[in-house]
Parts: sequence; C-alpha cells; structure tokens
Amino acid sequence: MLTELLDFLGSLHPLIVHLPIGIVLLTIAIDVFMRNKNNSVHRVITLGWFFSFLSGLLAALFGWFLGDNGYYLASQISIHKWSGIAFVGVCLIIWMLRFVNFRFTQTFNRFVNFTIILLLTITGHFGGEMTHGQNYLFENLPYVEKKISVIQLSEAERAETDSIQVYEDLIHPVLEEKCMACHNQNQAYGGLNMSAFESMIKGGNSGAGIQKGNPYESLIYKRVSFPHDHPKFMPPTGVPLSYDQIATLEWWIDNGAEKQMPVTLVRNDPKIQRLMEIQYGLDLREKTYLETLKLDSPTPEKLQSVQGEKYSWRFLNPEQSFMDLKFTKKQIETTDLINIQNIKKYIVWLNLSDCMLNNDHLGYLNDFPNLTRLKIQKNPLITNKGIEALQNLENLTELNLYGTKVSDAALLRLGQMQSLKKLFLWNTRITPQAIADFKIQHPHIEVIAGM
Ligand code: HEC
Repeated sequence: MLTELLDFLGSLHPLIVHLPIGIVLLTIAIDVFMRNKNNSVHRVITLGWFFSFLSGLLAALFGWFLGDNGYYLASQISIHKWSGIAFVGVCLIIWMLRFVNFRFTQTFNRFVNFTIILLLTITGHFGGEMTHGQNYLFENLPYVEKKISVIQLSEAERAETDSIQVYEDLIHPVLEEKCMACHNQNQAYGGLNMSAFESMIKGGNSGAGIQKGNPYESLIYKRVSFPHDHPKFMPPTGVPLSYDQIATLEWWIDNGAEKQMPVTLVRNDPKIQRLMEIQYGLDLREKTYLETLKLDSPTPEKLQSVQGEKYSWRFLNPEQSFMDLKFTKKQIETTDLINIQNIKKYIVWLNLSDCMLNNDHLGYLNDFPNLTRLKIQKNPLITNKGIEALQNLENLTELNLYGTKVSDAALLRLGQMQSLKKLFLWNTRITPQAIADFKIQHPHIEVIAGM
C-alpha cells in the first residue's frame, strides 16, 4: 500500500517540477523588472522565494520516490538529483536572508539570480534527458542528423561472414548498450546480471533470463517485446530495441541460444537471412567452393605444357587462376595426362569427352584438388572401375558420364561424393529404377538421365 502511494507520488514528479520553475522565474522577473520597489513588492519577492523553496522541496521529494524504483541509471540521476537539491537549498537560504531583512547588494542579487537560473537549467536538462532520452534536445534541432543506434560491422567482418557469431557480434553489443548499465555484477536490478553469459541465461529473481529454444518463456525476450507503455517493458529508459534486434534475439533463442553460433546458420530461415542482409549488409548466400578459393595465377612456364593444338583452354576468372581445359583430339594418351599434372591445381573445369579415355587414364585425375566440373562423356571404355578413381575429387560438383559404360553399382560410389550436385547419366547402363532410388536417397543431387 505504502509503496504504491509512493510510486503514485513519484509519478507526479514530472508534473510538480513545473511549479518551482514557474514561481522562481516569476519572482526573478519581478525583482529585475520592477524598478522602484516599495515594501509590498519586497514582501511579494520574499514570498516568491518561499514558494519556490516549498514547491521545489515537494518536487525533490517526489523525485526521490520516482528515482527509488530503479528504473533510472544511477549515473544519469546523480547530476539531476544534486543540482535539484542545491536549487532547493539556495531558495531556502535566500528566503531566510530576505525574511530577516538582510540587505542584498546589487551585485550579490544578480549573482544569486544567475546561480538559481543556472541550477534550474542543469536540473531541467538532465531530468529531460532521463525522460526523453539522451540527445533529445539537440537531435531535434534543424539540420542535425539523428543518431540511430544500430550495430556497425566493419568491412572486414562483413567479408568474413563465416566468422561472425550471433551472440558475440550481434546480440551482446545491443544488450551491453541498452541493458547492462542496470544489470551488471555490481548493480543487478531484479537479481539479473547480464554482464556474463551464464548469469544472463540463468536470469534473476523471477526465473530464467533465457530458456534455450523457447523465446516466449525467456524473460529477457519477453521484457523487450512488451508494448512500450507496459510497466515491465525493458529498457525502462533510453532507446528501446529495434525490430530487427528483437527479431535477431528471438531467432537466436529459438535456435538454441548458444554462445558460439555462427551467423551463417540463418540460412535455415530465409526471412531472418534477408533481415541480416539488409540490416547488417551481410552476404549470407552459400558460397560455392570456387568463390572461397584463393589462387595465384600460373606462371607462363607452367602454361607451356598446354600450348599447342591438343588442348584448348581459357581462364574463368579475372585473376586468371581458374582454368577451363579441353582436350581436343580424338585419341588421348597417358602422356597427355602426365603433361597437365604440373598445372592441376589451376584446372577447375576439365573436358575429356569423346577421346577414348579409359579407366586407367582416370587414375591420373584422382588428385586434382580444385576440380569442380568434369566432362568424360562419350568414352565407352569407362566402366564402374573408373569411378573409383574419381572418389578423391572432394570438390567435384558436376560430373558428366553420358555415353559411358557405368552401371548401377557406380551409383553407390557416386552417392558418397560429398560435393556432387549435378550428374549426367543418360545413355549409360544404369537402370531407371536405380536412378529413381538414387534420387530419393540423394535429393540434393540433380540427376539428368534423359527420357
Ligand atoms: C535503467 C535501468 C534498467 C535498464 C537500462 C534495464 N533494466 Fe531490466 N530491470 C530494471 C529494474 C529496476 C528491474 C526490476 C523491476 C522489474 O522487474 O521491473 C528490472 C528487471 C528486469 C528483468 C526481470 C528480472 C527478474 O528475474 O525479475 C528482466 C528480464 C530485465 N530487467 C531485462 C532487461 C533487458 C533485456 C534490458 C535491456 C534491453 C534491461 N532490462 C534494461 C532496470 C533496468
């Protein structure tokens, strides 16, 4: 009952403060502008100081009740509180001096008026900042750009999306800015200390701060997503969390609220992925192997081996390091494959179609580290045995086996190739039934089998 009454009186503080402001300004105006003061004018001025003191005292008292609820930052309150108290004290002293008919010199009188207006300005300014937020006054001036609180990721961080952590890089900085002034190890309102990850999860007096996997049972999420005029809304002062910050928090809790959770995990949720792309400028599309590969371009000496009409080739990237190589003749020899061994790391696409390639030849391809596309179609000498040699091609995404003699057993090995995304199988010995089964087992591999 008593706390409720005090809370009520506290809520009157923003109203009551205008009384001493009005009274003291009027008193000073009378003092300054009325030239020939007779006795009654002096009495009015003395009375003015008295009422300034009295209403100031009341405002300070109510302010005390208001500040006591913990919803204001101690650091913000302090200047406001002490300049407010000084204001009340100075009013009291001036009233008492006037009451006992102390003679003010004109300089002293000016000094007193100036001091009280200064105290009034300081108190009012910091009080306003607490209610309306910092920068409230200045950011509303014309031509002043509003400072919007968002997380800025550096260019380097954005380039390395793989290393961005959801909690550490996107959530912790927000909580630090908006919550931790009131929820740290020294001052943990509601028993909640958010400065350490574990104590934040654990929560305060009312239960779990974060319930992993369930945002709607997590007090921290609940409190920031209440309507802004809800008495339990957090943060009680300052700028609330933005929509995207709340959405990120929700998604993070939903997905387990782990301290170590890479931002690339948003790929499981297109909506939040888009939000991250727009909000933080992150490019979160899945990168192909070649997009992540850094390679210097081959020296001219190395390229000697593929001069001549047996090979045709081109570079695929502006850095001139990824090669697309094609064997042009109808009959390939082992030496033709030994020839290209010294540039094998540059070859990312290789076309050896229709050149009487056999299983033994394929053995020479088994350690091409960056090969992503291999065309060996129309080589009827190739059978299941040849596929064994291809198993080490860890980055192979596309393989064309059209017109070879591979059969159902080859599918078992092909299914084990992790990077494979596209497979051409028409006109082989593989049965339609085996292909149908393979497609079910490997839905991420696109099979092109004709018919
Ligand atoms: C200006 C001080 C202040 C700031 C800033 C602040 N809080 Fe609070 N918070 C409090 C006070 C005081 C309480 C206790 C009274 C209450 O429960 O409302 C509290 C209580 C809580 C509780 C309930 C704890 C419990 O278990 O009872 C949660 C959760 C919470 N705050 C979350 C937040 C979050 C999240 C932020 C940042 C977005 C935040 N707070 C910012 C002052 C603050």
